[in-house]
Amino acid sequence: TSYKIAVVNGDGIGHEIVPMGVEVLKAAAEKFGFDLDTTEYAYGAGYYLEHGDFMAETGLEDLKNFDGILFGAVGLPAVDDTLPFKLFTNKVRTAFKQYVNYRPVKLLDGIDSPLRTKTQKDIDFVVIRENNEGEFVQNGRQMYPDEPYGFATDTSLFTRPGIERIAHYAFKLAQKRRKKVTNVTKSNTMINTLAYWDRVIAEVAEHYPDVQYGKMYIDAATANFVLRPELFDVVLTTNMLGDILSDLGGAIMGSLGFGPSGNINPEKNFPSMFEPIHGSAPDIAGKGIANPIGQIWSGAIMLEHIGETAAAEAIVKAINATTAQGILTGDAGGKNSTTEVAQAIIENLKG
Ligand code: NAI
Ligand code: MG
Repeated sequence: TSYKIAVVNGDGIGHEIVPMGVEVLKAAAEKFGFDLDTTEYAYGAGYYLEHGDFMAETGLEDLKNFDGILFGAVGLPAVDDTLPFKLFTNKVRTAFKQYVNYRPVKLLDGIDSPLRTKTQKDIDFVVIRENNEGEFVQNGRQMYPDEPYGFATDTSLFTRPGIERIAHYAFKLAQKRRKKVTNVTKSNTMINTLAYWDRVIAEVAEHYPDVQYGKMYIDAATANFVLRPELFDVVLTTNMLGDILSDLGGAIMGSLGFGPSGNINPEKNFPSMFEPIHGSAPDIAGKGIANPIGQIWSGAIMLEHIGETAAAEAIVKAINATTAQGILTGDAGGKNSTTEVAQAIIENLKG
């Protein structure tokens, strides 16, 4: 079998960690006997500075034909930071109906969580973030921003089909895990959108009597991520709340640089896109010190999605073997470089 993979480094540390992700994928492909045909696209904020947009006019048409997209992150200090999400990340997520943002939070072998009393059995859950609507539909305006009477709006959008499909995904995932879904919301104050979200999710929950269903407000959930992470199995939440919670998830794993994600189109009628949860980290770009693990792990999630489950599991195992050996970048308390960590993962993968 041969898979066509689009590779988008993006900006900043993307140029350092995405190539490492590709190397690990190629090593896995060789070991497990399949081919990866990769094509690079230089899209992002750097591309914008040269061409006036984050991707070519044919960008979406071109990307559509791949089995998967491996992506770093976009954004540069020199570029208006309202643009990367709008013109790249969210554009791809919505055009390709990647309505699931799948973000595992799992303590790796040998890593001490900053939550000192918590161990691997306590920190093992998945954040399922609704990825196509909600607070991030960018439906609003700024009026008279330079005047004393300026005002601004952003109206979030929640649709019944949009809520139902993400809910079904979360409950089905829970059936394969510890059978528990926690809906994280703020419906006591967002009494229209999030109360409707809760209502539709509670209706979907009825179809999954084997899954324990509960609701938690976002303020309490942030506290519980820190104090009682063992409460969670599948955390189902909205686009913005999930964005925030997943960085906290990365933090309790010991570094934002560990967090992987998949922007998933479950129906597979368009390609899915796999990226670490963090951004382009311009503050450390070009130094060779970025943690490549979130990126490499995202590649494993891609292999799982396209059906190469054994190779995906082998990569995750090799990541854990590497962290257990204490081969870590500075953000995770180690002193190894990006390349050293990636090379160690490849060695462990080859076995
Ligand atoms: P960020 O996630 O890039 O960085 C936050 C902090 O975490 C920084 O101190 C950074 O050095 C550190 N960090 C992040 N990833 C790391 C890694 N792999 N290894 C070691 N340290 C790491 O978030 P920030 O600074 O808020 O945003 C920077 C740029 O990234 C902005 O332009 C933002 O818009 C963009 N961004 C893009 C995303 C995407 O393309 N999906 C997602 C989030 C932010
Ligand atoms: Mg984020």
